[in-house]
Amino acid sequence: MTQDIQKVLLSEEEIAAKVAEIGAQISRDYVGKNPVIVSILKGSFVFMADLVRAITIPCTIDFMSVSSYGSGTSSSGEVKIVKDFDGSVDGRHLIIVEDILDSGRTLSYLMKTLKTRGAASISLCTFLDKPERRVVPVKVDYKGFTVPDSFIVGYGLDYDQRYRNLPYVGVLKPSVYGEE
Ligand code: IMP
Ligand code: MG
Repeated sequence: MTQDIQKVLLSEEEIAAKVAEIGAQISRDYVGKNPVIVSILKGSFVFMADLVRAITIPCTIDFMSVSSYGSGTSSSGEVKIVKDFDGSVDGRHLIIVEDILDSGRTLSYLMKTLKTRGAASISLCTFLDKPERRVVPVKVDYKGFTVPDSFIVGYGLDYDQRYRNLPYVGVLKPSVYGEE
């Protein structure tokens, strides 16, 4: 796998320090609120697992799956809820956990949909943000890192379902997805 990585962007140590920081922040902001931490599958599963262990207040977890990308590297613009919550969100404080904010299409749609469901509040926590690629504006409450406009894999992020298990975040060599 490592031969397909052009450059390591974020090391395991940098990621761990940032996740600890966000976990501490959420723990302060949500005292007494028993938030639902919602992982958007599949990309956020690694971040989610580390993040919830950095949260020191009572919370519950849930998972959602939305499809917006096929196997390529750019957004189709189509968003579909493939797997919905298991639990009720009525009156709960939701924290949506995403791997990367790119065009913003997925999250803009999702946040809009979730706002109709009776949650007490909804905030967004994204591990990575690629602001140069934004097409639809999205308000971010907690952010790990800002990354440049290149295709990024590892720490849950995939290219064609691969590289999710890399423990760090790297830029994929363009030759892997057929550019160059
Ligand atoms: P958006 O709707 O364009 O913001 O797409 C967000 C989704 O696209 C993320 O949840 C990722 O699954 C995927 N994505 C966007 N950029 C990358 C990337 O650089 N690497 C891996 N997945 C990405
Ligand atoms: Mg993905």
